[in-house]
Amino acid sequence: DDASDEAACPGPLIVVSNRQPYRHEYDDADAEDDTERSVTVDEPTGGLTAGLDPVCKRTDGTWIAWGDGSADFDVTDDRNCVSVPPDSEGYTLHRLDLSEAAVDSYYRGFSNRVLWPICHGFSDLLEDRPTDFEWYRTVNERFASAVADHATDDSVVWIQDYHFALAPRLVRDSIPPSATVAQFWHIPWPAPETFRDCPAGVDVLEGVLGNDLLGFHVDRYVENFLECVQRYVPNATVDRDQRLVRYEGEPTTVVATPMGVDAASFDRRARAADRRNPSALLTDAVSEETVVGLGVDRLDYTKGIPERLAALERFFERNPDWCGEFTFVQKATPSRTEIPTYERYGEFVRNEVERINGRFESGDWKPIVYTEEYVEPDDLCALYRQADVMIVSPIIDGMNLVAQEYLAASVDCDGALLLSDRTGAYERLGSHALGIDPTDTDAFARRIAESLSMPRHERRRRMNTLRHRVFENDIGSWMDSQFDWIQSIHEGSSSEAID
Ligand code: ADP
Ligand code: G6P
Repeated sequence: DDASDEAACPGPLIVVSNRQPYRHEYDDADAEDDTERSVTVDEPTGGLTAGLDPVCKRTDGTWIAWGDGSADFDVTDDRNCVSVPPDSEGYTLHRLDLSEAAVDSYYRGFSNRVLWPICHGFSDLLEDRPTDFEWYRTVNERFASAVADHATDDSVVWIQDYHFALAPRLVRDSIPPSATVAQFWHIPWPAPETFRDCPAGVDVLEGVLGNDLLGFHVDRYVENFLECVQRYVPNATVDRDQRLVRYEGEPTTVVATPMGVDAASFDRRARAADRRNPSALLTDAVSEETVVGLGVDRLDYTKGIPERLAALERFFERNPDWCGEFTFVQKATPSRTEIPTYERYGEFVRNEVERINGRFESGDWKPIVYTEEYVEPDDLCALYRQADVMIVSPIIDGMNLVAQEYLAASVDCDGALLLSDRTGAYERLGSHALGIDPTDTDAFARRIAESLSMPRHERRRRMNTLRHRVFENDIGSWMDSQFDWIQSIHEGSSSEAID
């Protein structure tokens, strides 16, 4: 069965996330009503929505998210409330409209100019603009009140990620005590020395402590979080062994539950793929004989794309025999482009690709084939299957799902994974992946050479172990562990309510 057995949520589920799982664009030309409008459906890029959507389709829940450009909110309410999948059992997606000022401050401001860089240890990129935090609070209030509109006595509210650090407390205070509030923080939590620079840091911590349950991918983030609470929220009691915080009389249980992917579905799509020439690969630079390296990322400064390009350049310098034989395919999706740091990062990456290609290309062959596009799931799986070497080299990444997707789709068991040792994924997959320090260009380049010359049986041995881990710890088992925790807390809080 896909994604293992059904995970049981102990009450009606309400998911809250900033990013919506689907974006619907309506072509309104000359249409009298919605039934006549043509609709294009788009799946935003990112680990969070990719992971949660298949799970929520199996519940009868509610998902509340920012309606980012999807609907013309003045025309009809229908577009703010849609069934996913359409016309069948699944969940109801409720979209909230946000003004341009709100989006600029809450999303492009406090979320992505403050919390994202702080949590990833890029304090030098922090930009603390005057009204961003107040808007962040206002939007968190807006989402919390939408939750309160839907919550019942036994609801399970499951808040996603760093866009909602304040919402948990606001929700906790406005829904019945017997309902459960949980949050999963999909990105790293930094050490206290880094978190110290976070504007409104204490508000952030107090907000998050409104949760009954708080989840991170790995132990280190749990420990960092507990240390931050101990250091910056003096009235909280922290039990490091039990991973339990008590603040204003209310407990928060903090757990590490690493997220997986829908391994069975990647495996199935990869098996169905045409092994040769998947359409997303078609280019003169890649022939049937070409050995293919692959990178798939959002264009984000945490992903280590320039470091990867530097290592590839060094590799071609040191291993000229591979020129004409090996091509690196990089699929990059532009992300958060209205933030200048991201725009500059994209510019830099594009220029580097051009420069490196200029140095080494000959005839039809190019060392790097770079495109910025969303790759459809079937094509993505075909690409994963075709790739002889996958390079995942973030400077830091809470988890990284791309690495796991690659393994799940490597049905021929003949590929190799180069994986940054600063990712949650490395912590769970261990040294069966070829570990790299993305900033050590020489060692990184040697790793690329090593992976290409690795004997087939060695690749197969590693790949078998890695695939096993990805299947064992897939998205279904992640959900099971989330819901098990929620269940035990839920039972605790309903019995407290009865007492
Ligand atoms: P993040 O959540 O930081 O973007 P992850 O690796 O955890 O990083 O998740 C990224 C998700 O986005 C994966 O599911 C991956 O398949 C998807 N993705 C990234 N780039 C593309 C692309 N160019 N086309 C299609 N999907 C992509
Ligand atoms: C990461 C974050 C998600 C986010 C995704 C894409 O995975 O943890 O919360 O949705 O990146 O970023 P975006 O800003 O486009 O939603």
